[in-house]
Amino acid sequence: MTNQNINVYTLIKPEIIKLRKVGIKTAILDCRLLLSKSLGRKLTLYNHENVNISKNEVEHFKTLIVQRLSGKPVSRIINKRDFWKKEFKLNEETLDPRPDSETLIESVLEHYRDKLQALKILDLGSGSGCLGLSLLGEYHNSKVSFFDISKKSLEIVKINSLNFGLSDRSKFVHLDWRDKDWDLNLIKIENEIKFDILISNPPYIPESEIKNLQKEVREYDPFIALNGGKDGLNAYKLIIPKLRNILKKNGKIFFETGKGQEKFITSIAMEYGLLPIQYKKDLSGVNRVIVFIIK
Ligand SMILES: C[S@@+](CC[C@H](N)C(=O)[O-])C[C@H]1O[C@@H](n2cnc3c(N)ncnc32)[C@H](O)[C@@H]1O
Repeated sequence: MTNQNINVYTLIKPEIIKLRKVGIKTAILDCRLLLSKSLGRKLTLYNHENVNISKNEVEHFKTLIVQRLSGKPVSRIINKRDFWKKEFKLNEETLDPRPDSETLIESVLEHYRDKLQALKILDLGSGSGCLGLSLLGEYHNSKVSFFDISKKSLEIVKINSLNFGLSDRSKFVHLDWRDKDWDLNLIKIENEIKFDILISNPPYIPESEIKNLQKEVREYDPFIALNGGKDGLNAYKLIIPKLRNILKKNGKIFFETGKGQEKFITSIAMEYGLLPIQYKKDLSGVNRVIVFIIK
């Protein structure tokens, strides 16, 4: 079968028009990413490049466009997403990492300026591993334990850690923070050595609001990664009372939070003697991360 040599923009232009018609604002980038996927390219193609493409590859590209037109996010079609400085593989049980969550990485970097220190970090509800693995990329002597209820998401963290050469400093813990003794079970696995830092982006969407989320989130992000129960605070209520048992004195907690939740989370945390030391806004000006210290 003969290939055609064609300019990327010429090839994707009709598909861009289709995506724009259904209101997809990122039509050009989406087409470039999907074309790269159908050609098996690791790097994203640019509009000005030329590609040598077979009929089958064009057909494959068009089937990916049909998926996108049906509302499936690009990250779910290509099963990967850029976060901080790396490209993370995803599967159906991992949350699609959000740019807002990079606020948490920035906050840890502000609080721990010496990148050579050996920190013991817990990534609670680790999903794709985007938070913990990004920190391992910054702190070369540190270790992260990735904790999740989803075995399938832990498998993806394993793959991501191997791909980034970070598996030696990664540990994978399959536990459920709804279990009564999850803290004691965790600390046993950790040979009774407590953590310096806890990072967590727990599920925080009130259950009744999930049906009103964008289709891309509602239908493609795992329900268990979104559902924060009646008021969105279930996970914080289960996690916070246990923190003294798993963190060292002066240990710090970095929680991602939903819009408007900071005062409720602060009051739960203060009941258990945690002191709030920072509220950090994301790029849209929403308080996205709260930092607490254990005194
Ligand atoms: C909002 S996602 C965050 C994923 C990832 N850290 C990120 O920022 O993209 C929440 C994660 O918590 C996990 N999770 C939900 N309920 C849990 C539970 N009871 N015990 C442990 N992990 C849980 C989910 O599987 C999901 O990976």
